[in-house]
Amino acid sequence: MNAPRITIADAALHAGETVRLCGWLYNLRKSGKIVFPILRDGTGLMQCVAVKSALPEALFETIKDLTQESAIVVTGKIRAEQRATGGYEMDVEDLEVVQRVPESDPYPITPKEHGVEFLMDHRHLWLRSQRQHAIMRVRHEVIRAVRDYFDSHGFTLVDTPIFTPAACEGTTTLFEVNYFEDSKAYLTQSGQLYNEATAMAFGKVYTFGPTFRAEKSKTRRHLTEFWMVEPEMAYATLEDVKQLAEDMLVFVAGRVLENRRPELKVLERDVSKLEAIRAPFPRMSYDEAVKTLQAKGSEIQWGGDFGGTDETLLSQDFDRPLMVDGYPSAVKAFYMAPDPARPEVALGVDVLAPEGYGEIIGGGQRIHDVDLLLRRIAEQNLPAEAFDWYIDLRKYGSVPHGGFGMGIERCVAWLCGLEHIRETIAFPRMLYRLKP
Ligand code: 4AD
Ligand code: MG
Repeated sequence: MNAPRITIADAALHAGETVRLCGWLYNLRKSGKIVFPILRDGTGLMQCVAVKSALPEALFETIKDLTQESAIVVTGKIRAEQRATGGYEMDVEDLEVVQRVPESDPYPITPKEHGVEFLMDHRHLWLRSQRQHAIMRVRHEVIRAVRDYFDSHGFTLVDTPIFTPAACEGTTTLFEVNYFEDSKAYLTQSGQLYNEATAMAFGKVYTFGPTFRAEKSKTRRHLTEFWMVEPEMAYATLEDVKQLAEDMLVFVAGRVLENRRPELKVLERDVSKLEAIRAPFPRMSYDEAVKTLQAKGSEIQWGGDFGGTDETLLSQDFDRPLMVDGYPSAVKAFYMAPDPARPEVALGVDVLAPEGYGEIIGGGQRIHDVDLLLRRIAEQNLPAEAFDWYIDLRKYGSVPHGGFGMGIERCVAWLCGLEHIRETIAFPRMLYRLKP
């Protein structure tokens, strides 16, 4: 029998037809002379109904004895069934076992509760579970939305390198690798410096790729390898950067709500929190933020950088992302433009997600004056020769410009309402995890 192959996601288009589904056994319910194999195929779940009296005896026995995650191909008729998840069931006519998981070595992730470390060790299998599946689909949606946003707003995608000769965000957080004979390279922390070059060639650009941070942070917000989207614009000010960040986030959250409701439901996400993400976002200066934090009992003093707890305290008064600008130049990277009216603060902005998710975007306006840039490079003891090309950008048609970086995983953790960032990427890389 060779019925046409469909996916579970398309079942509604084939009601009443006999079709073939290729997947894995998610679960098996037995009820006397009927068994209900639940099939997953990556696009959804389908409850199949195998009736003893309607099938050859050997086939019925095979189905009855199926083991979790065995690979199976099921042929049967699709039938509307209001009570079923997805609204359809399949009446089994035939079933082929492609690989049967043996009882002697059963699928390790059972429906019972498992500890996080166990699940992380089995990440290659854990991804098959409903919840992980939902998170990855939201991630895909976020990435697609981000790309669609920039592609439809005049930005050119220009990918930047991963092997770099020098630091971007600070020297202490670099992964060093041998680069042939005597030379060292570093895994990029951000594509920004290259973005600044390409912005002068294309006007508006973005890069989207993996970035690496060797900081030894063991928090629920830090990965050592994460994906960052970074737009950069020539002839742009801090205000332009803030507007772009706001507009993009509203668009991305809207897309997730539009296309990923079923996944948000699996995650038990309170969607009213996402529906609140509308412009305008609240804005606050660093000065105000310090006062607010002190009033809430934080030990922070003017000049200090915010920790995760500070960010949570600040954002808890708002139902949408909070934009904080005017951080002290001393706590920000060398390239941040100082405020001409108050050089001790930088024209930089951090966007703090609500519900305690902390910083999801960091960016701002860059230094475009060559002398000032040289001074900052010297002050921070950075190797000027590594930055010669970057300095060139200030010599040949230098203009005010700026952009930001958004960590995809931080954004996904927030939109999905997750406890920890480790679930937002298929194979997380963290201080104590490099496997699988
Ligand atoms: O604030 P960051 O360090 O800014 C930059 O890298 C700028 N050069 C970006 C730019 O202006 N083009 O990082 C930007 C974002 C953070 O807001 C956060 O979302 C994410 O990257 N991020 C991390 N995500 C996961 N794990 C980490 N260790 C992260 N570090 C930063
Ligand atoms: Mg930052």
